[in-house]
Amino acid sequence: MRQVNIQLDQQGRLRHFLTIEGLKRQTLVDILDMAESFATVGEQTVKKVPLLRGKTIVNLFFESSTRTRTTFELAAKRLSADVLNINIAASATSKGESLLDMLANLEAMHCDMFVVRHADSGAAHFIARHVPEHISVVNAGDGRHAHPTQAMLDMFTIRRHKGEFGSLRVAIVGDLLHSRVARSQIHALTTLGALEVRVIGPRTLIPREIADLGVHIYHDMEQGLKDVDVIIMLRLQRERMQGALLPSEHEYYQRFGLTDEKLMIAKSDAIVMHPGPINRGVEIQSSVADGPQSVILEQVTNGIAVRMAVMAMVLGRQGEED
Ligand code: NCD
Repeated sequence: MRQVNIQLDQQGRLRHFLTIEGLKRQTLVDILDMAESFATVGEQTVKKVPLLRGKTIVNLFFESSTRTRTTFELAAKRLSADVLNINIAASATSKGESLLDMLANLEAMHCDMFVVRHADSGAAHFIARHVPEHISVVNAGDGRHAHPTQAMLDMFTIRRHKGEFGSLRVAIVGDLLHSRVARSQIHALTTLGALEVRVIGPRTLIPREIADLGVHIYHDMEQGLKDVDVIIMLRLQRERMQGALLPSEHEYYQRFGLTDEKLMIAKSDAIVMHPGPINRGVEIQSSVADGPQSVILEQVTNGIAVRMAVMAMVLGRQGEED
């Protein structure tokens, strides 16, 4: 997983998109700028551009997902690519076929890109190491490790509301321990030069090593939310929790749930984000999730343009070589 350069080709261009870690600031800015040019496609009568016509993209989702899978599918379709959604539960891997054999069969069908979601950290890197030269891999979330397109759509949403990153204080609140989204967001925010990145949550859900990524740790909302421009709430990832990491949902909500009252601690024009799925009354009060400062549904919309940008960048690179 440390082998971050596997995602770049010899000219330093993106061949795969596996992690934000190790990418240059300019690469991230290029993705955001390209996404900006795609953002209006969804508002046109004909919601399509011909950029990836003739390309075949395979969605390989080994873990359930609604938002991420559908926005990847829409992004591919709006770029005029053909898309296959493999239902892993019903596929031959459940009949004992190995992952690599399954991929070899898809490769034999001349696919151009695999979009991979997997419960194991490192799964997308593993697949990227085994595909032939002409196939690109995009990580749609691997274990607790990374979710780079989610982080980029969050950066896109922040930039649209707040402009440049250099003056921004961003707080990421909740279950940092299990969150691939938070890890990718931290890499993206620090690479883009955010003024300060804070993480807020109970000691059991904030790994101390996270400070090595250049963030400030808080265990108290009153202190952590003071003067912040952007609040990113995370879901309690119960499916990944072993043992008693939490007192009770009620107590968690009392201390770390984003209520109207706690939102007042942040700057008055702070935006509220959440990658979804949201748990109302667990990490966020309904009136905040649906309130004027919430940009949660914009994040979903922006996910399409950002995924279009990543796909176009990775596959467009091959076109330039032809
Ligand atoms: C996140 C994920 O799956 O990592 N959701 C998403 O991609 N929209 C976060 C989560 O599951 O809480």
